[in-house]
Amino acid sequence: MGWRQNSERRTDMSTSTLGIIGTGPVGAGVARRAVDAGLAVVLSNSRGPETLTDLVASLGANARAATPAEVARTTEVILAAVPFAVHERLSRAELDGKIVIDPMNYVVTEEWRRPELDRDELTSSELVQRHLSGSKVVKAFHSIGSPQINQLHRARGAADRTALPLHGDDPVARKEVAGLLDALGFDAVDLGPLAGSWRTEPGTPLYASPYVGAPPAELTPAEWVAWVQAAPGVPLSAARLEELAAATVRGPAGFRW
Ligand SMILES: NC(=O)c1ccc[n+]([C@@H]2O[C@H](COP(=O)([O-])OP(=O)(O)OC[C@H]3O[C@@H](n4cnc5c(N)ncnc54)[C@H](OP(=O)(O)O)[C@@H]3O)[C@@H](O)[C@H]2O)c1
Repeated sequence: MGWRQNSERRTDMSTSTLGIIGTGPVGAGVARRAVDAGLAVVLSNSRGPETLTDLVASLGANARAATPAEVARTTEVILAAVPFAVHERLSRAELDGKIVIDPMNYVVTEEWRRPELDRDELTSSELVQRHLSGSKVVKAFHSIGSPQINQLHRARGAADRTALPLHGDDPVARKEVAGLLDALGFDAVDLGPLAGSWRTEPGTPLYASPYVGAPPAELTPAEWVAWVQAAPGVPLSAARLEELAAATVRGPAGFRW
């Protein structure tokens, strides 16, 4: 498809349009970055388009609200920014044939866990791909805090441009999402199939920390999340990302809450 920017910010839906399901910090943060970069977005959540009036107004003329079904019908590349625990509620039929960007992280709680992930047999994104069997799932935006997405973008070629990892089983879909990341102001590092996405998941050196620096010692998980959300972004080069990914050792899956 190729990501064409609409520099005049018209309501011209022939410009490249990103579909978004889920408008928490990641969905809304990527939407902000996308419209600022000149793309159009169609946003949806679980409660209905009428609950997105304020967000859409704040994003301007290149944003509109819809239902998840309409997002799936009208866009080819869709960010599924919902909790991993509800990924099976994403509609397999509606998302059939689409590129689905998966930013979801496995959050381990007493009440909700997945034994196949706990045994390191699969990655969370392989489960998403298994559920969305007719879609092309690409994992991206999962390893950076949502505020840093709107701090670390840079023009192509800038010395301090930040790199983000992506994983996916379909090489064409990976290329498409790499093009989106570039249009949003990031270098993409293609780390291959979803089976290897444990290299950038929670608990690894590439998860969140490189984009914010070292947190103070002895934070609880809740304090750590709050610290990351408030921390100023730190650029990460593609070379350093590749180095960290290659050196990562597989540990227990998930973010332990
Ligand atoms: N927060 C971060 O900095 C961060 C960073 C990296 C990755 N992640 C991951 O990215 C994902 C999104 O995180 P988040 O913090 O932005 O938000 P979140 O709290 O995980 O998700 C909230 C959004 O999901 C929507 N939603 C829930 N169930 C849905 C369904 N069945 N259909 C459609 N929409 C549904 C909610 O709709 P309503 O608004 O209608 O309730 C809400 O807009 C998570 O999996 C998280 O692990 C988060």
